[in-house]
Amino acid sequence: MIKKKIRDAFNEQIQHELYSAYLYLSMAAYCHSIGLDGMAQWLRVQTMEEMTHAMKFFDHIIERDGKVELLPIKKPKITWKSPLEGFQDAYKHEQFITGRINELVKLSNAEKDYASNSLLQWFVDEQVEEEASASKVVQQLEMVGDSGNGLLMLDRELGQRTFTWPTAKEGEGE
Ligand code: FEO
Repeated sequence: MIKKKIRDAFNEQIQHELYSAYLYLSMAAYCHSIGLDGMAQWLRVQTMEEMTHAMKFFDHIIERDGKVELLPIKKPKITWKSPLEGFQDAYKHEQFITGRINELVKLSNAEKDYASNSLLQWFVDEQVEEEASASKVVQQLEMVGDSGNGLLMLDRELGQRTFTWPTAKEGEGE
């Protein structure tokens, strides 16, 4: 059975992951509203990825006979000055999430909760990718600057991103 301290912290992390999904979905709506449907597609895929992150914590609590308690999700920002500003926010947000994951690792070590620790190692690796992918788009948008052609090319490239549901093993932690 999962300890209360860990369970509470994981319930909070579900809230953070669902807020991440909300933030990316809001950014997707913004990109659609300015005609950048490729960037919106990239952000929609990211939204789904965040949902799978939330579900990993959800499943872990359930599997260890804990009680999932969903917490309120605050309203995300709904508009940005530019796609660059949006992706800069995303990058900052991923850095915040990395900090949360690191705190959870510290907690699981202090509580000697090896099962949680194993789950969290997946997130430690994932956050390296999460920060890198947001930071890459920021760099590309900085390079493109005010070029409309460059922006459209980047939009087309980012629109190639697709989402695949994790396999049962990845998704259910079996
Ligand atoms: Fe779930 Fe983007 O971190």
